[in-house]
Amino acid sequence: MRIGVCPGSFDPVTLGHLDIIERGSRIVDRLVVGVLENSSKSPMFTVEERIALLKKATEDLPNVEVLPFSGLLVDFLKEQNAVIVIRGLRAVTDFEYELQLAQANRSLLPQMETVFLTTNVSYSYISSTIVKDVLRHNGNVEHFVPASIIDMIYKFRR
Ligand code: PNS
Repeated sequence: MRIGVCPGSFDPVTLGHLDIIERGSRIVDRLVVGVLENSSKSPMFTVEERIALLKKATEDLPNVEVLPFSGLLVDFLKEQNAVIVIRGLRAVTDFEYELQLAQANRSLLPQMETVFLTTNVSYSYISSTIVKDVLRHNGNVEHFVPASIIDMIYKFRR
C-alpha cells in the first residue's frame, strides 16, 4: 500500500489546500493530512479546530485521514509508514522554501520522496494568511475556503 502525507499548518484549510489533497489522494492509496501542532507561526485556529475544519472539508474522500503531528515531519512519516510527501506549489516564490524543505527531509530520511503538485491557477493567489487577514477585517472568505466549512470558520474565528 502506497501511503502519502500531505503536511501543513492548515491555519485554516483553503480551497487551494483542498485541491492538492483531492489530487494527492488519487496518486496514493492512503493520504494522511498531517496538521502541525507546534507551529512557530502562532496560529489563529487551535490544532483541534484546524483538524475539525479539515475533517469536514475532506469527509467525501474515503482514503484521506487527518491527524496532528509535532516534531519532525520525517518522524511522522516513519510512524505512518509513509515515504511520500505531497506539497502544492503556487508560484516561484514558494519554490526556494519548498526545495530546502524537501532536501532537508530527504537527507534525514533518504528513502522518502516529495511530490509537488502545481496549484490550480484559480487558487494560486489564495493562502491561509490572506484568509486570516480577510477574517480579521470581517470580510467574506467564501471564495477562498471550501463551502462546507464556511459556518465553522466564522464560528471559530477570533
Ligand atoms: O503549511 P506550512 O506552514 O507551509 O507547512 C510547513 C510544514 C508543516 C510542512 C513544515 O514546517 C514541517 O514539516 N514542519 C515540521 C518540522 C520539520 O520537519 N521541519 C523540516 C525539517 S528540517
